[in-house]
Order: sequence, then C-alpha cells, then structure tokens
Amino acid sequence: MTQSVNLTRYLVEQEREHGIITPQLRLLVEVVARACKRISIAVNKGALGDVLGSAGTGNVQGEVQKKLDVIANDVLIHANEWGGHLAAMASEEMDTVFPVSENYPRGEYLLLFDPLDGSSNIDVDVTIGTIFSVLQLPANAGEVREEHFLQAGAKQVAAGYCVYGPQTQLVLTVGRGVAVFTLDREQGSFVLTQSDLQIPARTSEFSVNMSNLRHWAPPVKRYIDECLQGKEGPRGRDFNMRWVGSMVADVHRILMRGGVFLYPWDKREPNKPGKLRLLYEANPMSFLVEQAGGAATNGQQRILDIAPTSLHERCSVMLGSREEVELLQRYHAEA
Ligand code: AHG
Ligand code: MN
Ligand code: MN
Ligand code: MN
Repeated sequence: MTQSVNLTRYLVEQEREHGIITPQLRLLVEVVARACKRISIAVNKGALGDVLGSAGTGNVQGEVQKKLDVIANDVLIHANEWGGHLAAMASEEMDTVFPVSENYPRGEYLLLFDPLDGSSNIDVDVTIGTIFSVLQLPANAGEVREEHFLQAGAKQVAAGYCVYGPQTQLVLTVGRGVAVFTLDREQGSFVLTQSDLQIPARTSEFSVNMSNLRHWAPPVKRYIDECLQGKEGPRGRDFNMRWVGSMVADVHRILMRGGVFLYPWDKREPNKPGKLRLLYEANPMSFLVEQAGGAATNGQQRILDIAPTSLHERCSVMLGSREEVELLQRYHAEA
C-alpha cells in the first residue's frame, strides 16, 4: 500500500534530508496550517456560523473589514503567539507590528499575513484564501520593530497560501520548489497531492480586472491589447481571460495551469504603486511563482528585489509564466 505523505512528514523530510528548514520553522508552518484549517471551517459555515457581512470596522488600508477578515486575523494570532517559534507578526488587518507577549519564549521568525484574501467574494460564496510569508528576525535585533519586517522578498524563508475553494488546499514553498497539499477533512490533515509544481513557460491566458484598462500605463495596455487581438495580432495566437477577484484564486489557477496575473499601477492614484500589498500579497506570491519556474515583476524590477520602506507598502504586480512576464518587462523597458 502506498502511504500518503502529510504536511508533517513533508516538513520533516525537508528538515532531515535537505537541511533547509529548522525545527522552529517546521513548527511555524504547521501552526499556520492548523490556523488555516480553522479558518476553512469558519468559511464553510457561512451564514450558519454568523461569519458573513461587515465587521463594522475599518483597517489601516482604508478598507471596510468583513467579519471574516477579523476572525481569520484573530485565529492566526492566537494560533501562533504561544508556540515559541515567533518574534512578531504583521498583518494587512493590523495597523502595526504585533510582538509576541513576554509571557512566551521568543522565536527567531517573523510571520506576515493577509488573513483573508478576496474579501469581496466572501458573501457571494466564491473562492477566498489566506496568504503568508516568513522572514527571519535579524540577528541582535533587540526589541522587534517595524524596520525588521522591511526585508526584500528574496529573504523569505517560507511562503504559501491556503485556498478555500471546492477543496481546501495549502500551497507551500520553503525555498525548494512548490508543494500542494489538500485538506482531508475526515483525517483533519493536509495531504501532499502535488510536488514540484511547474508553471508552463508559455501560455495564452491572462487574469486582470479589465474594467481598469483605461487607467493603466501604456506598456500594460499594449500587452493586453495585443492579447486581445488574438491570432490576427502580433502575438499570432488567441488568448483566454479569467478573473475571480481573489488574488489567491487567480494565482492558484496560474500555478496549476499557467498564465499571467496582473494588478498593475493605475493613474487614478499616481502616487500609489498599485493596489496589492508588497509584504502580505506580492512577495509571498512572487516567491511561490519563482519557485515554480515562473517570474514576477512590478514592471521596473523583480518584485523579490524591492527594498520595502513601510509595512503596508503597495506594489504593482505582474506574475506567472516566464515568457509572458519577460514580454511585459520588455514593454516597460521600451516605453
Ligand atoms: P483583500 O481582500 O485581501 O483586501 O485583497 C483583495 C485584492 C485581491 O485579492 C484581488 O486581486 C483584488 O483585491 C481585487 O480588487 P478589485 O476587485 O478592486 O479589482
Ligand atoms: Mn483587505
Ligand atoms: Mn488580499
Ligand atoms: Mn485580506
């Protein structure tokens, strides 16, 4: 009988055979996965669990918080604060950093998360998710401060997301490829269902909120316009489009079968680099996409090379199949 590999075994093997993770990092990922299981249960209850609708509060991003944004944030904090694996956390839903209490031992890692991605889809029963990123607390850091979180994405030691769709899946990288785990609800465990995920380099599908087309910069307009021209245009082939409106769901599809995801800068807010958050959304997704053989850029540079200057910094995002992202980069360079 072939034995299935669960998340714990996968992580133990990464630690033992490949030496790329520490016991503390293994615990961290397991605790995050456990929190995601809880969030998945809350999501599935829907109206029966009083988890839909607005929380009546706002976040530092200027967004209305949904009940599930707040619930997911609380679940992640409470699951992680006591384990001794973390020094501090930061989240889309919290104004500033959350150091672990002095009542608990302090670990060497920093956890960053978008507790609930795709808030606009919660109440309409469409796929949503949780995104996370792990950094190391710099040596001799002393008291944890915001600046400790301001590390380039290339410094991430782990990143992943959990997608709450028809199945709940955890997609993870600890810097050695991308693995996909599916939640077995009877067993209560994440089971490895795909390892070493690879995004095809060449694809014909894009994912973008087309209603913003008139606001984009010329290189992005040019790229999409050429895709829309299909076989008759310079690309010489037809393109398909998919847009869920939850980054987790849109990027998940791209990881599974290729394509390019864009949330570009737009001229309505010229001084804001984009809508998505660098530390909670762009960096973890870029790490996963690169680990799956794809690429991620903001147009000017590789997203993972951006030096963050503030916790809630935004970023223009173009990621997915390598050939398409390279073309977007070229159009930006030529503009
Ligand atoms: P969040 O729900 O965490 O605030 O993120 C929403 C993001 C992202 O998931 C998605 O790609 C994008 O917002 C969609 O925004 P629009 O519907 O405004 O295009
Ligand atoms: Mn939000
Ligand atoms: Mn989000
Ligand atoms: Mn969110």
